[in-house]
Amino acid sequence: MCGIVGHIGKAPLRKFLFTGLSSLQYRGYDSAGIAFMDVQKNIVVYKSVGTVENLETITPQFESHIGIGHTRWATNGLPNKNNAHPQVSQHGRVAIVHNGVIENHSSLRIHLQNHGVKFQSSTDTEIIANFLEHQLLLGAKPLDAIKRLFFLFEGSFAIAVLFQGEERLYFAKRLSPLVLGRGKEGNYCASDPAALVGYANQFFDLEDGDYGYLTEEQVILYREDQMLDPRFAIKDLEHYEINLNGYSHFMLKEIEEEPSVIEKIMNKENLFSPELLSLMRNASSLRFLACGSSFHAALLAARYARSLGLDAYCYRASEFNVDPFYPQEKNAVFVLLSQSGETVDTLDSFYLLKSKGYPLISITNAKESNLARKTECHLYLDCGVEVAVAATKTYMAEVALLYRLLSEAFDKEYKTFFEEAIFSLKEVIARKNEISYLASPLARVNRFYFLGRADSYDASLECALKVKEVSGVSCEAFPSGEFKHGPIALIEKGTPILVFLGEKGGNFIRLNVEEAENRGADTTIISSCSQDDIVLPHAKGELSALSFVMFGQYLSYYLALELGKPCDRPQNLAKSVTVR
Ligand code: F6R
Repeated sequence: MCGIVGHIGKAPLRKFLFTGLSSLQYRGYDSAGIAFMDVQKNIVVYKSVGTVENLETITPQFESHIGIGHTRWATNGLPNKNNAHPQVSQHGRVAIVHNGVIENHSSLRIHLQNHGVKFQSSTDTEIIANFLEHQLLLGAKPLDAIKRLFFLFEGSFAIAVLFQGEERLYFAKRLSPLVLGRGKEGNYCASDPAALVGYANQFFDLEDGDYGYLTEEQVILYREDQMLDPRFAIKDLEHYEINLNGYSHFMLKEIEEEPSVIEKIMNKENLFSPELLSLMRNASSLRFLACGSSFHAALLAARYARSLGLDAYCYRASEFNVDPFYPQEKNAVFVLLSQSGETVDTLDSFYLLKSKGYPLISITNAKESNLARKTECHLYLDCGVEVAVAATKTYMAEVALLYRLLSEAFDKEYKTFFEEAIFSLKEVIARKNEISYLASPLARVNRFYFLGRADSYDASLECALKVKEVSGVSCEAFPSGEFKHGPIALIEKGTPILVFLGEKGGNFIRLNVEEAENRGADTTIISSCSQDDIVLPHAKGELSALSFVMFGQYLSYYLALELGKPCDRPQNLAKSVTVR
């Protein structure tokens, strides 16, 4: 994953690098680093393990007008200082920051070792740095050296590069995102325009195969052998501007935005084109493809589609790509969901299906993401930037958008059940304290379980994922009727089980609760019945399962607080998963 930034010009470089990197930490926060050119045109590097804030505390004040920065999600090599970027070549002539994965790194490493290169890290990025330096030693110019990467390096790379003594900021892009920015004080590059808020006002999205360099005034851009005149455009960066608005954490803020996210989707006019609605209506079957929380959102949507008489099914994108039989779905319409639009597993499915000519619809919360740009029929979630790494409001937006699409395509009234959902979510917010009381005993156990049935089972899957991600507590979800077929063996005296008793689950679930209690489980029933342990009133209608999901999101949040975990940036995670 990783985030990169670069600047050449008069902006205060230290401030820019740290501000830009901070806003890219959703892409990873295992380590961070910067490099800049000093007055003697030597490259100076600072790196540290952990967050950008850690790095900032150890970096002295400096003056320079050209520099690069990186925040890392470790792929090749452990998350230690040695493997942090920028990676510098053996003789110190090249410093590089990289987002992507070089697939043929082993053979390239051996090739360079045979030419006397000694590596200091286990990263694929150091191979790029040394390859570029080796090309310089053979007499190549920096731009030619960079161009050769496209012929010899397999895999993905978005890079920003400093060459010792050169007052130019070099860049290249294949498969990983990279945008150029232009502002009053010079030129920029970054993984995401979010890093350039307050600095650049015009932008150019690089295409795969683009490379070149920036000076303070100029942008030199090549696509293959052609020099291009890039057309920079103004972008509205308002939705990238992020602040906590008085909340203690982004996760909490984003959970509490959910009712308004759903309301916005309910009220938007002309959300779907007549062509899209007719494509849906005429589809012989619907197939959803997604990962993680987006997959869980698709589960609810597919259940709703089936209730409307459609043949609907969900595939995990990460599994879909390894089974060549799946794409033989005759006349299916495929819906690909991804809040980031950059999940490589989902993109792989997209390429596979596109090559077979299937009609494809994509749904993302990132308008300029790979998936959004590559799909002809794209739907934008438009629920504002989700800063916390774990998905919360984007999950809700995905569910709401799909329910509205299906309802409109099949002439089903939706406003009533949308309003019910908004009302019930507001009720959950009002009762969040009751959920917080549950967190303290649950934080003292090392595992617990959710049970649900039908849509409340789909909801419980999302809750268990959230608990794992945000609090680090081991948690699984089971269909309550299935529990007795094996998982019941896990129960010991006092094992906590949270049970979602929804409208569609039927009353057999109470029998399953008794079965678990008889074996020593400590059960908590969450339902809209006044006799149950936690009452979520008015959780009614087609979207009733959403109040269970919000319950689970709050619970994860409070568990993280109890356990002192960084809920906005849980360990080992990143917001866009661009590796296989
Ligand atoms: C859940 C989470 C992940 C993502 C998954 C898919 O909190 O962050 O499970 O849901 O990586 O991401 P997108 O939706 O960007 O494709």
